[in-house]
Amino acid sequence: MERKSKCVSTKDMEKQKEFIQLVTDKHDGEMKKYYLNTFGCQMNEHDSEKLAGMLSNMGYIESDDVNDSSLIIFNTCCVREHAEQKVYGHLGALKKLKEENPELVIAICGCMMQQENVVSHINKTYRHVDLIFGTHNLYKFPELLFKSFNNNKTLIDVWDTDGKIVENVPVERKDGVKAWTTIMYGCNNFCSYCIVPYVRGRERSREIKEIEKEVMTLGRQEFKEITLLGQNVNSYGKDLPHKSSFAQLLHQLDKISGIERIRFLTSHPKDLSDELIYAMRDLNKVCEHLHLPFQAGSTKVLKEMNRGYTKEEYLELVMKVKENIPDISLTTDIIVGFPGETDDDFEDTLDIIKKVRFDSAYTFLYSKRTGTPAAKYENQVLDKVKKERFERLLNLQNSISKEINEPFLGKKLEVLVEGKSKTNNDIYTGRTRGNKIVNFEASDKDICKIKNVLIDNIRTWSLDGKIV
Ligand code: 5AD
Ligand code: SF4
Repeated sequence: MERKSKCVSTKDMEKQKEFIQLVTDKHDGEMKKYYLNTFGCQMNEHDSEKLAGMLSNMGYIESDDVNDSSLIIFNTCCVREHAEQKVYGHLGALKKLKEENPELVIAICGCMMQQENVVSHINKTYRHVDLIFGTHNLYKFPELLFKSFNNNKTLIDVWDTDGKIVENVPVERKDGVKAWTTIMYGCNNFCSYCIVPYVRGRERSREIKEIEKEVMTLGRQEFKEITLLGQNVNSYGKDLPHKSSFAQLLHQLDKISGIERIRFLTSHPKDLSDELIYAMRDLNKVCEHLHLPFQAGSTKVLKEMNRGYTKEEYLELVMKVKENIPDISLTTDIIVGFPGETDDDFEDTLDIIKKVRFDSAYTFLYSKRTGTPAAKYENQVLDKVKKERFERLLNLQNSISKEINEPFLGKKLEVLVEGKSKTNNDIYTGRTRGNKIVNFEASDKDICKIKNVLIDNIRTWSLDGKIV
């Protein structure tokens, strides 16, 4: 396996253009189909939009049928074991397809590939895979794809360290209303349960000018909402030569015309500055929604997790946010069953949920990740206990989510219309500034517009209403 450690410059995308041309020429005008399956977070979804952008430049169109594609790509996630197992299941099922069609190219990339043990397992067990690459060299996909054609063994190119940021990678966005923009890559926090810092590298911020340029283009392309992405957006700019803060970035982006709403993910509580709270309060386009993972309620567990705050500090922070932005909508991430979590510790988690009253929460069973400190802790919690706690937490959060939605009955809310609902084609769907999903009757001409919707029904996860 080739494992490199090197930096790349922004010129590297120029070189990829030659390979984009070589792949296009190879297809000789014939449109090829690709099937792309993405696992994990928004960052991965956005990476897949970059893969789609490069593919579209190489004469490929997307297909949702794995049997009808000449290229199959898995963009993988390794944050929890379950996502990894799913990928192995899919890979196993493709063996027959590859035997029937040796021309088929099977590629696999993303966070899982940044782990040496995973790559050697795939290389040994799934010999029908043609191409393996990692997160740091995603932009090199055209070159790797070209080199993998007619190559009778698996081509592996995974880089150990994080490179510089490569700009100008083509992006094909699926949505025409909302767009993701990555503002920084990597994470320096090393929470003891988390694999991300090992597979995504250290924090690297994009230059403010590059982000502004991208958001201005999005505004011109009539996107109405942007979501700024980073593992910990609150550290944005600390690594730049002319240090700048995330709040300063928000001030700059708020001025860009065309864009009406700005959101961001994810905020680490230890780095949430007053400056950011004031920016959220004062800037018109920055929505009243904050995703602020607390992970666990007990100060003892938080310390073991290396989170850098206590239960009391988290609660104080939330109080400060609520005082400054009274209509803030709060969401969070919670891990249940971290090693050593006792019944009392878990009660602290429930206590935070009761005190903060989050609009919604993403709840996860602790998953042991090889290579992280917590995987070596001996006091792992029994699966049965984890699941019981998980159920209790879910029931509590669901009842709070519904209670929080009740006062919206009879209220008029500003909704950005996104499109038809996935489950019912007669119904359209959109979100409020507080990120609540609202369903209503509308027509295609309402898409991408902000409409007032009168709420006439409340659910746990969404609201129903009528455009007024
Ligand atoms: N087990 C369970 N959940 C995890 N997360 C990260 N690592 C793990 C793990 N090992 C969760 C955290 C994080 C979210 C993206 O995934 O809650 O905020
Ligand atoms: Fe993982 Fe912690 Fe970094 Fe989030 S802040 S990506 S949980 S290490």
